[in-house]
Amino acid sequence: MVKSIQYKLILIYVLLLLFAFQVLGVFLIQSLENYYLAEFKDGIKSQGQLLSSFVSRHLYEKEYDITTINQLVREFSQPITMADIYIISNSGIVVSASRGKERYVNTRVVQHEVTRAIMGTPGEAVRPNPETGSRDYFYATPVFYEQSQVGTIYIVASLISVDNTLAKVRNILIIGTLSTMLLTAALGIFVAKTITQPIEDVTQKAEAMAKGNYEGKIAIKSDDEIGQLGSVFNYLAEKLEESIGEISDQKNKTEAILQNLTDGVVAFNKDGDVIHQNPLIEKLLATKDSSKLREILLYDEKNLADLLKNEDITQKQREVNGKTLLLNYVTFSSEHGSSGLIVVVNDITQREQLEYMRRQFVADVSHELRTPLTSIKSYVEALLNGGIEDREISEKFLRVVEDETQRMVRMVKDLLMITRLDYNKESWHYGTIDMEEFFESLTFKVLPQLDDKNQILTKDIEKNIPIIRGDIDKLQQLFINLLTNASKYSPEGNQIKTIVKRYGNDSISIVVEDKGIGIPKEDLPRIFERFYRVDKARSRELGGTGLGLSIVKQVVDGHRGHITIDSEEGKGTSVKVILPIAPAVEEDV
Ligand SMILES: Nc1ncnc2c1ncn2[C@@H]1O[C@H](COP(=O)(O)OP(=O)(O)O)[C@@H](O)[C@H]1O
Ligand SMILES: [Mg+2]
Repeated sequence: MVKSIQYKLILIYVLLLLFAFQVLGVFLIQSLENYYLAEFKDGIKSQGQLLSSFVSRHLYEKEYDITTINQLVREFSQPITMADIYIISNSGIVVSASRGKERYVNTRVVQHEVTRAIMGTPGEAVRPNPETGSRDYFYATPVFYEQSQVGTIYIVASLISVDNTLAKVRNILIIGTLSTMLLTAALGIFVAKTITQPIEDVTQKAEAMAKGNYEGKIAIKSDDEIGQLGSVFNYLAEKLEESIGEISDQKNKTEAILQNLTDGVVAFNKDGDVIHQNPLIEKLLATKDSSKLREILLYDEKNLADLLKNEDITQKQREVNGKTLLLNYVTFSSEHGSSGLIVVVNDITQREQLEYMRRQFVADVSHELRTPLTSIKSYVEALLNGGIEDREISEKFLRVVEDETQRMVRMVKDLLMITRLDYNKESWHYGTIDMEEFFESLTFKVLPQLDDKNQILTKDIEKNIPIIRGDIDKLQQLFINLLTNASKYSPEGNQIKTIVKRYGNDSISIVVEDKGIGIPKEDLPRIFERFYRVDKARSRELGGTGLGLSIVKQVVDGHRGHITIDSEEGKGTSVKVILPIAPAVEEDV
């Protein structure tokens, strides 16, 4: 491409030169020929005139002196004129001929220029001579003596000297043209290079730019149009690099934002084709396939059209793969006329679950509180309806009322604890705890309850058990709950064991074991749920609230610990609490 410009330029130079030389050559050669020919003719004509003046008198005489005439003819021909000369009589017969042409004497000459001269006017002609390969000049002039024609002089001269001169000039011209053309071509390559090289540079640079490489500048070697092209191009490259840099910065920012969004984002064009999606989408919808996304998020054509018409945010809730998703649709349109729909997908599964649990909890609490209240109400009514008269009955009824009230108080206390733990309102007071001391004071607190049922509590605490860090009040609450359960759900006179051991390098384990009624296998997984009881009536009878184990679980979690329950129906239950010696928790002061 670039090469061809170079060659085109050279071709133009050479053709221009050729044309110029051609015109010049034709003109020059023509002029030279005219000049030489005229000169030559003039020479021959004047020789002819001179000869005519000499021979006219001799031709006039009746018996002319042929010897003198021959003499004159010979003198005038070679070497003076280098021409053949003939004297022709009025009847057209050669009378005398120059040396070498004597054979033509007494022959008739019929050339038209001769005929013309015989008739009285000089004639001339130029004709090629096949013998010499050159041209001959023929000149015939009448000879007059005392106003009457006495004969004709006919001169035939070779134009070989003129033709040779012209041929030489022509050769010089051809050689000159050719060498000038060669020189021009050579110069042309150089000159054209100075034009094409910068263009080639610009082309290469443009190609590099197309591939994203903006480095390097075009060297500006001149101040002409090509130099200007180069500098404009450099400026263009600089600006382009700047703009592209800005655009890619912007793009990276947007990309980073989209990548790190905690919501899924998909952008559709107005035909419903996916034009962008962030990585979270695949996680939320378990697919990144465009047509699937379209199906899940846009449903169908009609829905897409409706969504595109709406200028406000449209929200929809959908269950996808067991997740509850909130889909927020908002339309967009750019200056360039493209428009479409952006869908922001929020995973609200947890929010929904929490909401559900909160509602369930409120329902459970109301239900749990209604039972004791109903029974209090009915006993109080019975008392008011005359029961109060009977001292024995009223005492019995009031005791029930007291029991129920106490149970409610316990429940409200537990509930308060649970909600405070739930909302992180409960402050934690970490301190050092010595297990020996801890169980000493614990036993003291649960002893009355155990004594009621003649139960014995044994302690087996490993020697040199490390002192741990924990919230002593909450841990006490935890083990009171466990020991109370062990006592409640095992028969009178039974033994309850507590075993405290090291557990691994950084924890201790505390096991509370009873030989009571045990927990059915199918109930074990739900045992930590709020208000969950294996046997509601029995729990109630025993003053339970169904909140004890859920508090236990929360306290263990708060200490970054672990709890497991092993139980067999009718055989007994073993609860194992593992507590880290130094829990990694942020401590409230
Ligand atoms: N040591 C145990 N032996 C048998 N059953 C138990 C034991 N501990 C807990 N349970 C069962 O787990 C249920 C939940 O216990 P908890 O949350 O403390 O509530 P409750 O107020 O009923 O004691 C109890 O109702 C009981 O059915
Ligand atoms: Mg309990």
